[in-house]
Amino acid sequence: MKIKNICCIGAGYVGGPTMAVIAKQCPNIKVTVVDINEARIAAWNDDNLDNLPVFEPGLDAIVKEARGRNLFFSTEVDKAIDEAEMIFISVNTPTKTYGKGKGMAADLKYIELCARQIARVSKQDKIIVEKSTLPVRTASAIKDILDNTGNDVAFQILSNPEFLAEGTAVEDLLSPDRVLIGGDTTPEGTKAIEALAAVYAHWVPQERILRTNVWSSELSKLTANAFLAQRVSSINAMSEICEKTGADVNEVSKAIGMDSRIGAKFLKSSVGFGGSCFQKDILNLVYIAKSYGLNEVADYWEQVILMNEHQKQRFSDNIVSTLYNTVSGKKIAFLGWAFKKDTNDTRESAAIKVADNLLNEQAEITVFDPKVVEERIYADLDYLNTRSSEENRSLLKVENNPYETCKSAHAIAVLTEWDEFKTYDWKQIFDNMQKPAFVFDGRGILDKEVLEDIGFVYYKIGTGQ
Ligand code: UDX
Ligand code: UDX
Repeated sequence: MKIKNICCIGAGYVGGPTMAVIAKQCPNIKVTVVDINEARIAAWNDDNLDNLPVFEPGLDAIVKEARGRNLFFSTEVDKAIDEAEMIFISVNTPTKTYGKGKGMAADLKYIELCARQIARVSKQDKIIVEKSTLPVRTASAIKDILDNTGNDVAFQILSNPEFLAEGTAVEDLLSPDRVLIGGDTTPEGTKAIEALAAVYAHWVPQERILRTNVWSSELSKLTANAFLAQRVSSINAMSEICEKTGADVNEVSKAIGMDSRIGAKFLKSSVGFGGSCFQKDILNLVYIAKSYGLNEVADYWEQVILMNEHQKQRFSDNIVSTLYNTVSGKKIAFLGWAFKKDTNDTRESAAIKVADNLLNEQAEITVFDPKVVEERIYADLDYLNTRSSEENRSLLKVENNPYETCKSAHAIAVLTEWDEFKTYDWKQIFDNMQKPAFVFDGRGILDKEVLEDIGFVYYKIGTGQ
């Protein structure tokens, strides 16, 4: 089966960039990305490419090339479903905030809504591709809905998890380490797998396209994220020991990373991992383990999250204790709000938790992030429900100039590793701050010697005094 028409439901951080790259690499396939959020679709269609809803280096050029040729963004969901032979589901699957599995299980409400809509609209056989990260065995739930509520058309369900990381999405999509496709082992299942493999084969070498059964594919995504997050929590656990003993976590990372069995990546100590996936996927894994009675397995993975919470907490505690045990009425400047550099995404960003802790101590925070807009920052804080949104707005200000942000501050906290922070005139920043002037570098990106020479009291995560 040769695919000529693809639809993707969900124009978010995953659906948008993934479909843009498929459209770029497969000019003969018509790709339509649909979303129920009209504002988001309008932003994807904006003539000014600076207004795309997702910021990813290189994405604007790809959208410019393919949009209107074979890449379309639309709110006409039914029409796009009807026309497509292959439908990607890329809607969000947040952690449940109510009922059974609250705080742990993935909420599959949107997935189910999509499945019901596909069943209702489809008049010809279709291949459904799970792009959203889902708990193991979700495919069978989708299949159940499709088979029981559809118009007697045949559906094949594939799992095709996305491994792109934000900030490097375009690069990751253009040359993925691997593409994973899980499907039924029946002849029809195999045909569907090969149809999707043929789409990727436009630019991905065959040996990097893995075929597995559906459950292995679904579980591999959760496992990959759990392993990656575990590395960050492991090095962050070491960072605290380093600070106590006078070791330097960066030296430790380098020393162990050169062991080819360990490898050098994902060993950067930080104020804590964020992003929409790590915490959600591990919670999900913990929930699955518990539901099978595998309590030791559940406890093992849960510790990765507890360590991450501790890392954020101890970063803010350290700011308070260093500033003579009170930050009440003191100005703390935040450099960075995004959960990592080169993205405007703030989901689960460590900055949110650190800000919340400091606001509880009555600090006055000023934030600068090169890509995150003011409304997003307030929305993140309001979502916590710790205080009223008026209080959040009165205690925390958002600036669009880093020098203004740091002016008269008692301390600066570096929360995101944006490259531009390294290039600032730190002498000028120092001259305009309260003294002693403190810098708490939660990403370990600034030069200790240079800052100390200027006169700063400099704390770098994972480095002992
Ligand atoms: C999402 C999931 O969070 C993640 O688990 C999965 O791996 C990939 O898809 P992301 O693209 O980052 O990740 O989510 P988000 O940016 O929130 O985009 C989802 C989009 O789906 C939103 O624009 C939302 O409006 C849309 N949506 C949601 C629909 O179009 N229909 C729905 O029924 C629900
Ligand atoms: C992750 C996975 O990497 C990706 O494969 C999956 O598809 C989605 O989830 P993402 O969340 O976009 O991607 O970013 P990632 O680069 O993994 O970073 C996650 C968090 O870990 C960030 O907050 C980052 O700052 C932090 N991190 C990462 C560290 O603190 N140290 C590291 O060494 C690496």
